[in-house]
Amino acid sequence: ERKCQLNGLWRNDQGSLMEISALRDNGDFEGQYLTRVTLSGGCAQISPLKGAQQQLGEEGWSTFAFTVRWDKFSNATTAFVGQCFVDAGGKETLTTMWLLREAVGSLEEDWKVSSLEENWGAFRDTPSL
Ligand code: BTN
Repeated sequence: ERKCQLNGLWRNDQGSLMEISALRDNGDFEGQYLTRVTLSGGCAQISPLKGAQQQLGEEGWSTFAFTVRWDKFSNATTAFVGQCFVDAGGKETLTTMWLLREAVGSLEEDWKVSSLEENWGAFRDTPSL
């Protein structure tokens, strides 16, 4: 059983790209995210992400969480939680769930974003990129 390395370049089901570049000993990590889809349908820009990976015990794969700052083009915030898996061939997959919080203009409009949804997405290695 090999340890999961979050470092590297990942692509998810939507075709978004994520690079995790700085993984510290304490589990904190940083990177950048380029989403292929946006709420507005407009162009995205590379956005910084920050997260934390739980320190591994002897057993099981590590879980992690991160947030992405879209603030170069959007007021929204996304929080991801996930887990890293390694298959027998050494291929890593990150399975995630996320919540996307849109910004509204007033408290009266808060109901518009209060619907609860479960959102799933998997990231895979992109060794070819
Ligand atoms: C925005 O459009 O206001 C911010 C970008 C949101 C992109 C979302 S985050 C969850 C999902 N996974 C992706 O890779 N992109 C979308």
